[in-house]
This record gives sequence, C-alpha cells and structure tokens, in this order.
Amino acid sequence: MDKTKAAGHGKAENVGLSSDGKRVIIIDQTRLPSKKVLLELGTPGEMYDAILGLKVRGAPAIGIFAACSMYCLAQQIGTEKMESFIEELETYGDYLNSSRPTAVNLSWAISRMLRTARLHEQKGRGKVLAALGRECRIIQEEDVAMCRAISEYGLTLIQEGDGILTHCNAGPLATSRYGTALGPLMLGAERGMKFKVYADETRPLLQGARLTSYELLQAGIDVTLICDNMAAAVMKNGWVQACFVGCDRVAANGDTANKIGTSGVAVLANYYGIPFYVLGPSSTIDLDCHAGDEIEIELREEDEIKKKYYKQPMAPDGVKCYNPAFDVTDHSLITGIVTEKGILKAPYEEQIRKIFNQKEIRR
Ligand code: MRU
Repeated sequence: MDKTKAAGHGKAENVGLSSDGKRVIIIDQTRLPSKKVLLELGTPGEMYDAILGLKVRGAPAIGIFAACSMYCLAQQIGTEKMESFIEELETYGDYLNSSRPTAVNLSWAISRMLRTARLHEQKGRGKVLAALGRECRIIQEEDVAMCRAISEYGLTLIQEGDGILTHCNAGPLATSRYGTALGPLMLGAERGMKFKVYADETRPLLQGARLTSYELLQAGIDVTLICDNMAAAVMKNGWVQACFVGCDRVAANGDTANKIGTSGVAVLANYYGIPFYVLGPSSTIDLDCHAGDEIEIELREEDEIKKKYYKQPMAPDGVKCYNPAFDVTDHSLITGIVTEKGILKAPYEEQIRKIFNQKEIRR
C-alpha cells in the first residue's frame, strides 16, 4: 500500500486504528525512505514484533502504539467475567512491555490502559472497551498537544539561520505529529524561518539517514546528513549553534537515555561550548528512576553492526560485537530539558519535582 493517511483516528498520523477499531495501523518505518508501506496488525505477536523490529519506534510513538494495541487486544478477550478479563489484559500488557526495555512510554501507556480498565471494571465488558477506546484516543491527542507545546518552547531557543545538530530521529514519525527534537524546526519552517540542520546518520540502524533526513527534506528544511563521527568536525567549523535530541527515559535527576551516540554528542557540545537540549514530553520522565544508572539499556543483535544494510558482512565472522541501543547522557552535560510544561534547567531534580507537584522524589 502506498498511502500516507490511513493511520490515525481519521488524521494523518503514524499510528492509528482500522475503521472497525480492531487492528492497529502503522507506517512501517523500516521501509522508509524508499517505500511508504502501511501495516495492519491484529495479533499480539505482530504487535510485539513491530516494536522489537523498529517498524514502529521513537518513545512517544511506541507509547501510542501500545495503547492502541491494548485496545485491540482487549476486544479479543471473550469473557464477560471481569476478573478474568483484567487478568488476560494484564498478560497482554506484560507481553508487549517485554519487547523493548528502555523507552518508558511503553510501560507508561500500558499501565494507563490497565488503570482505565480497572476503573470501569464494575460496569462490565462493554463499558470497559468503550473506555479503552477513548483512552487510546486521548493518549494520542495529548501527545499531539505536548509535541506542539515542546515545539513552541524549543523555538524560543534558536534564531533564524542557526545550525542545529540532531541525533537519531525525534520527528513526527517518532511521535504523533510535529515531533520533539525536530518539532521546533518543523514549526519554525511553517512560519517561514530557515535553519541548517545537521543530521547524524545514527549507526547502526540509520534512523538519522533514513528517517530524519527524509522528514526534514519533506518539510523543505535545509538538512545535511553526516556520519556520526563527523559531528566534532561540523562543531569545530562553527556550524552548530545548538544540539536538539529526543529522549527515551529521563531519570528524576535529569540523566537522559536516548539513542546510542547521544552522550558522545553531548560531550562534544560541552567541549565546544554549544548548548545541548533534550526535548521530550513529561511522559518520558520516570520518577521511579532516580538516576541514569537505574535505566535498563536494551542490547540488540550483533548482526545489526556486522551485516545489516551491507550486501555482504563487513566484519569477520567470529568477531564479538557490543550493540547497546541507547546510552545515558549525564545531566551535567544538558543545558535544558524542553517539555510541554516548560524548559527545565539545572538543578533538574528540583524542577522535575515541581512540574509533577511532588514534594520529594523517592531514592
Ligand atoms: O531505537 P529507536 O529508534 O526507537 O530510538 C529512538 C530514539 O532514541 C529517539 O530519540 C527517542 O525515542 C525520542 S523520539 C521523540
């Protein structure tokens, strides 16, 4: 299928429901940029594989996808006995949640759907299903609003003509619309502003090359693709005025997990005196995680380094590979965390506590 509008609740978004509400529809991100293919997923296995295989990816998009999946799976639970219904839904939630560990939006969305189911449990199956359908729509709509607000705040940090370096993909494909790290650039472009964006290709899975440069080109934004190891050179040339990156899990002290290579960009930015901003919705902040060393980092197959995207293997057969999908940027390297609630500055723990109205954060 070569359509762009099927996903979303009647809108052009990356994740949505089929018209009968029984299957989740996504744009298969692994086929971009050469083909825009829509997938309709109805079984738990298909949903799990879509997350693990990065057909749907980016923390907010994974959360929205998980919420829609929970709704679809709930409809497949036949029993009217609500205790068994909730138990089965929890089992589906645990299964989906085990697909990838780092992005907190996955467990966040699943917990939210389970909470909704429990809240309406007494009213019977029909009412629970209706509430779940509403909740996944709300999660998606909230994400659109959060990305829009993040984009507005982010835009205040840059000037017309600035060079912005970004890593991985935190654009519309990774969210509902607008994106987080790319949001201010998309919004600025809508308003006629011009920027020069440097997109790291993002080894080993090339989200920067395949997705970020594709999205920016489509939006008419001046984008230059660079290999990850060229970031220092463009910074040294004076071409970068700010770094904008997304996030998969932000600890309560501001330490931030994002795509592998992000912390290297932060170290370089720090060295060259370039502001380094993390942009993400408050749903990516994990108050249960005090510091970055508590964040579980996903380890992926070594063939992604050795073979993927090459016609023939690019490394000798027996060589060992280490392939963490994410790294943690120390909060001391982060100039600001841009959320829908405003731009947080150090001391992060205090500011994060404030936006969540918490007196104290658990240690
Ligand atoms: O492995 P991925 O492609 O899911 O990693 C995605 C990232 O690291 C993004 O920067 C992050 O999820 C933020 S998306 C708005």
